[in-house]
Amino acid sequence: MRVVVTGGAGFIGSHLVERLTLRGDEVTVIDNLSSGRRENLPPGVALTEAEVADLTAIQPVLAGADLVFHLAAVASVPRSIAAPLEVHRSNGEGVLAVLEASRRARVPRLVITSSAAVYGNASGIQQEDDPIRPESFYGIDKAAGEMYLQAYCRLFGLRGLAIRPFNVYGPRQALDAVYGSVIPRFVSRLQAGLPVQIEGSGEATRDFTYVGDLVDGLLLAAVAPDAVMDGRPVNLAAGHAVSVLRLAAVLGEAAGISLPPLHGPARIGDILHSQADISRARTLLGYAPRVSLEEGLALTYRALAGA
Ligand SMILES: NC(=O)c1ccc[n+]([C@@H]2O[C@H](COP(=O)([O-])OP(=O)(O)OC[C@H]3O[C@@H](n4cnc5c(N)ncnc54)[C@H](O)[C@@H]3O)[C@@H](O)[C@H]2O)c1
Repeated sequence: MRVVVTGGAGFIGSHLVERLTLRGDEVTVIDNLSSGRRENLPPGVALTEAEVADLTAIQPVLAGADLVFHLAAVASVPRSIAAPLEVHRSNGEGVLAVLEASRRARVPRLVITSSAAVYGNASGIQQEDDPIRPESFYGIDKAAGEMYLQAYCRLFGLRGLAIRPFNVYGPRQALDAVYGSVIPRFVSRLQAGLPVQIEGSGEATRDFTYVGDLVDGLLLAAVAPDAVMDGRPVNLAAGHAVSVLRLAAVLGEAAGISLPPLHGPARIGDILHSQADISRARTLLGYAPRVSLEEGLALTYRALAGA
């Protein structure tokens, strides 16, 4: 099968590319290497270094593709707030260009990555039919991407699903990202033999999802029955709420360091609780997360800390 992965040189994309290559697919990656790296790609994978919003550049790459995964995006809420127009070019115009190129190339199936950020600051367990309330430009572009996909499915018969991942972690997650997420920040501290620094009380919860489970879900989404590929959103997560305090404790165990965490002021605008209802993914896709938090964090610590 000929598969195109946009953002394939990034964290999640490179894990997906690895799995596709292992099962024998012919994979081409479109990436501008802004946060992704060529070294993340397995040998034999073709890379087109291009802006995903550049229709002229990406159109020929999609010609003849059986399946497209669209992951390219500036995956940062703070960056979207600092530079809304620049990020919109990647995240908003990017998804539209991929949809238009897919329509022109008659790509049979498309899986795009939206985000749990479309739910905004909603409390409780997030379900796909809940009203969306994105609170950042990142979330707004992701919500727009879902709506563009639905319109392309409705108007042009494209077949696709919009995946909403929740806090994905795992090997190859950037340790040095300017807007790094909590796990790489904790790993850097533990690696240096220092206690982790928690912003706020640590009672905030997140649905931490191991990257291998997310990739399982993306691959299952690509083979969903035609009738459900109408652009609808599907949550992909572990389906459990884990507090930042528990995360710090489990990661400390993985690192063999038991120092009490330090606490700083809570970050303004951070949401308190985030947890996915994953019953749609279970029912429609047969998705079942397999990696426990303990296992996932041990694998991640070893890979990120080089331990
Ligand atoms: N990591 C998470 O927890 C998470 C959660 C929800 C959604 N997502 C989404 O999943 C996707 C992958 O995220 P990730 O965590 O692997 O991030 P990442 O930054 O590691 O990967 C994004 C990739 O897209 C590329 N890219 C960025 N802008 C581009 C552009 N304009 N043109 C071409 N390539 C471009 C980057 O170089 C990188 O390789 C993104 O769409 C992100 O929004 C991630």
